[in-house]
Amino acid sequence: MVGVRMDGWAPEGARMHGNTLQLFRHAFHRDAAALASAPGRINLIGDHTDYNDGFVLPLALNRQLEIAAASSDIASSRIHSTNTGERYTLSLRSESGEGFARYVAAVAYELRALGWDVPEVDALVRSDIPVGAGLASSAALCVAAATMFEKLTGRSLLPLEKAKLCQRAEHRCGTPCGIMDMFVATHARPGCAMLLDCRSLEARYVPMPAKQTLALFIVGTSAQHALADEGAYASRRRLCEQAAVKLGVNALRDVTTAKLESARSLLTDDEFRCVRHVVTENDRTLRAAEALGAGDVATLGRLMVESHESLRGDFRVSWPAMDAVVALVRANQPDLGYGARMTGAGFGGSGVLACRGDVAADIRQIVMSLAASRLGEAITLERAEPF
Ligand code: GLA
Repeated sequence: MVGVRMDGWAPEGARMHGNTLQLFRHAFHRDAAALASAPGRINLIGDHTDYNDGFVLPLALNRQLEIAAASSDIASSRIHSTNTGERYTLSLRSESGEGFARYVAAVAYELRALGWDVPEVDALVRSDIPVGAGLASSAALCVAAATMFEKLTGRSLLPLEKAKLCQRAEHRCGTPCGIMDMFVATHARPGCAMLLDCRSLEARYVPMPAKQTLALFIVGTSAQHALADEGAYASRRRLCEQAAVKLGVNALRDVTTAKLESARSLLTDDEFRCVRHVVTENDRTLRAAEALGAGDVATLGRLMVESHESLRGDFRVSWPAMDAVVALVRANQPDLGYGARMTGAGFGGSGVLACRGDVAADIRQIVMSLAASRLGEAITLERAEPF
């Protein structure tokens, strides 16, 4: 049996404002001047498609990261996390930082590059988005930090400018990520998933079906991921870009299903598998958005399982515990009509499970006990409530 690490989960749906301000006062012996927040997300389908100009279908979660802050009149910033107990003292002018504080420093750097006069701060970060769970906690940190600086300076960014600035900040921190996570954190609408075209950056909002129709769970396995510490994400992105150059297209978005087989002879096997994943995933994502809009849980579930198989077999970013959960779901799918897949970058993290809302409690019980008895793997299934 492997231990489950979902550090930082607060009770379901917890709203944190009051406490965050009090904790700030306690930590810094003064009142905060700004409170900023941003949600985490779960991606229902469409992974490793965003940096290929493709489609994604994320849902902002009712789990968020908050920063209480005040400008500091000394030459350094103090940045604390109540979740991990980390405390950093650094100058936001130094262009770098340690631990989670480096994301705040990177956002400050990008704002200064726009000509903003960014103050040093006292800041307290509090979050119920678990770190390393693939739920976009670092994007939430960057977006909340950008909002904090907006409030402290009285200046503002358009939501799209903010998303792009936060993407650049993440790149500075070592992850060449796409735009999905920070776009969701800056453009989410309550109760809606979002079909995002990552080329045009147009979002179509898809209202979530009634709770009786569809239930979503976040599947927690024991494996955490650390994107910025691994070259695996960057290496997948490089393979995709190399393949696009060889195929003479701007991005893999431009490869059609019809062109896919003829691409095989021009590419290495690794490149071809990446292309096949992206091309088929884009198609699945568009179909899944239709199914979600229509409340067709059976089709959504089937597409999710196919997506996982593609991320496992072709893109090779899944991990054994999640593969085992999806295999269980697959074996029982005809009876139960539900689906599951990994979500986000992979290499550990979380999955998402979709099922009919009216049988959600039973399915949760069945999957958890099957996982424990057949896989020897303690998994967690937490309801994924929309933002
Ligand atoms: C991470 C990145 C996103 C996206 C996903 C995979 O979450 O930050 O841009 O590429 O992985 O879909």
